[in-house]
Amino acid sequence: MATLTHRFEVTLSDTARKEQISSPVPDFGSVTTDHMFIAEYANGQWVNARITPFQNIPMGPASSVFHYGQAIFEGIKAYRQVDGKVKIFRPEKNWERFNTSAERMAMPTIPRDLFMDSITELVQIENLWVPDEEGSSLYIRPFMIATEELLRVKPSDNFLYMVLLSPAANYYSKPLNILVSDHYTRADYGGTGFAKAAGNYARAMKGQVEARAKGYDQMLWMESPDYKYIQESGTMNVFFAIGETLVTPALDGCILDGVTRDSIIQLVRNAGHKIEERRITIDEVLWAHKNNLLRDAFGTGTAASVAPFQKITYKSMDLELPPMAERPFSNDLKTELDKIKYGQTPDIFNWMLEI
Ligand SMILES: Cc1ncc(COP(=O)(O)O)c(C=O)c1O
Repeated sequence: MATLTHRFEVTLSDTARKEQISSPVPDFGSVTTDHMFIAEYANGQWVNARITPFQNIPMGPASSVFHYGQAIFEGIKAYRQVDGKVKIFRPEKNWERFNTSAERMAMPTIPRDLFMDSITELVQIENLWVPDEEGSSLYIRPFMIATEELLRVKPSDNFLYMVLLSPAANYYSKPLNILVSDHYTRADYGGTGFAKAAGNYARAMKGQVEARAKGYDQMLWMESPDYKYIQESGTMNVFFAIGETLVTPALDGCILDGVTRDSIIQLVRNAGHKIEERRITIDEVLWAHKNNLLRDAFGTGTAASVAPFQKITYKSMDLELPPMAERPFSNDLKTELDKIKYGQTPDIFNWMLEI
């Protein structure tokens, strides 16, 4: 159980929700809740931490985030348990990653208690916003932006840390069609791929738009300059079942250290299956497909949970994956993970934080 210090000043909204959110739950990210968390960084310290009604924030046009893009974020989910309680999935991992991102982007880190309490206190206040429809959750979006008003290029001295909440329905309702990128990249060695930095998402948008225009759900990001090694897909880590073994790209500084990825690896290992974290080429996937060894392929992420791939297109080749009923991993892993998240099975890894 999270211990709450209630150290933040709280101003409640007059128009706050008075009853549990009902179905249909809005599409992912489209609705924010009644309250938000905000803290300011000035003179080397986090100050003025408070929960307020959801509101606009005054910002000068010279604020550094608008020009040089010091901005990072996280994505976490709270789940309505079968017994009605609310629990958050592995938020401490997100706190660690938030600070990894902050350090890479020359931004201040956040103390553990400030991060954890900002989330737990806000979710507690917004309890009625946690949906109970199947597959739904309350998405938690902590983020930090540079606010110093100065047009000279330098790391900002001032920042805002905020948390927003958004009720979320299931992200993908059907298996995905994936286009292998042979032109754009998402991340490179020495860059910011391992950080959840806003700029990573900005640079990925054009590829995503072009993939969508060609009828694909997501891009499969490849390593430059030869576009042979697989990185990740959209905002998901990726897994391929080749024969009996599940393979996922190793954490190499280019891909995000996904909390879902880590959870899937633990679940697979715990079930006694073979899993390898290593470099994987598109040629190996093509070879496995040709030899009927490509038995499953899926993406993982907080938003999408486990999202199976239906088709992977490389240049002009379409790789069709086996029907969902024949998949050795994706169905079972999604079910197993969801059962833990919704409290339908014992939380043997101690992943859920009760609020
Ligand atoms: C680029 C990228 N890769 C992978 C993931 C999956 O990470 P997680 O499982 O922590 O949500 C995300 C989402 O956060 C992402 O944005």
